[in-house]
Amino acid sequence: MSELFSPYRIGALELANRIIVSPMCQYSAVDGCAGDWHAVHLGGLAIGGAALLFVEATAVLAEGRITPGCLGLYDDANEEALARVLRMIRQCSPIKMGIQLAHAGRKGSSAAPWDGGGLLAAAAAGGWQPVAPSALAHAQHEAPPHALTRGELDDVRAAFVASAKRAVRLGFEAIELHAAHGYLLHQFLSPVSNRRTDDYGGTLENRMRFPREVFSAVRAVLPDHIPLGVRVSATDWLEDSGEDSWTIEQTVTFGQALQNDGCAFLDVSSGGISPQQKIQVGPGYQVRFARELKEATGLPIVAVGMITDALQAEEIIGSGSADLVALARAMLYDPRWAWHAAARLGGVVSGPRQYWRSLPSGSGRIFGDVRIAQR
Ligand SMILES: Cc1cc2nc3c(=O)[nH]c(=O)nc-3n(C[C@H](O)[C@H](O)[C@H](O)COP(=O)(O)O)c2cc1C
Repeated sequence: MSELFSPYRIGALELANRIIVSPMCQYSAVDGCAGDWHAVHLGGLAIGGAALLFVEATAVLAEGRITPGCLGLYDDANEEALARVLRMIRQCSPIKMGIQLAHAGRKGSSAAPWDGGGLLAAAAAGGWQPVAPSALAHAQHEAPPHALTRGELDDVRAAFVASAKRAVRLGFEAIELHAAHGYLLHQFLSPVSNRRTDDYGGTLENRMRFPREVFSAVRAVLPDHIPLGVRVSATDWLEDSGEDSWTIEQTVTFGQALQNDGCAFLDVSSGGISPQQKIQVGPGYQVRFARELKEATGLPIVAVGMITDALQAEEIIGSGSADLVALARAMLYDPRWAWHAAARLGGVVSGPRQYWRSLPSGSGRIFGDVRIAQR
């Protein structure tokens, strides 16, 4: 019996298996609005047999986008555009849909990766002045961001809440706050980017304050059945630099605090706060952080990062290191990753009836439990 293909619950959310499609920016929105690309991209992933599909980092304010092409959920046009994509997915797949709400902070106003990824000068090529906890640039050559005032923090918090309400209206079944990869909430957590001298900087408690406030404000407006989780960077990978940085010990404290605040799951990633980071990359390189957070909190834990092989994923779940695995690049490379994993592990996975004839003989019961949404 495959553990990877066993059902799981996050609160009231029932998941058919332990496989999540990780959020992945597409840099292909117009004024924050999803378009045909998103329908094709998400639609293809939605029929691949994973239990939960996360829409990419979706900005709660226009200036919270990473690039001018990043998705947003800050106005009615954004909401309508995403509603269209979701309608298509719902007609074709029973997959549960999640959204990652985000603010890029000082990493906003960047060029798309295929255009070099560097910071766009304000107002040129659609750029703007990024904001951050402190007026410290991400990379040395970049212009410093605007340090958010107390009043502006209220606005950002309110924007997270407003976007969460839109996500509820859109019928998303799970919401994740992006507090990883060097974006705004992570910028508050890490002493590398947070040098504030008010209640939002300095001590660990103060650095956690704004992310926790955002979490609680969003949680307060969500119906009970929608789980709210957080993606964390477990470490800045700067321990050897001599610089004061964000570490796994602090992440554990943050995870425990979020647990008290009603967090439904932690999605455990790492890095992104500084170009000086020294990441020890390898297969499953972040799983040990997932395990540590699982042991410390007992919360549902998502492991992510270079999980590419079915047996590897099975071992992560079977050994209790994490409850769920999220895959990004492997899903782009092979959107039917879950079908192939099911074939290898003897699991059962959903697939659309239009594709049943593709089943290679002897592949087991890949489509044994097909559930197709009725039109
Ligand atoms: C194209 C692409 C876009 C990504 N966009 C996001 C994103 O929107 N939010 C996020 O938290 N991580 C994002 N990531 C990181 C992935 O979600 C994932 O954590 C990372 O790629 C490691 O997993 P993998 O080894 O399975 O790719 C992105 C990764 C890729 C490859």
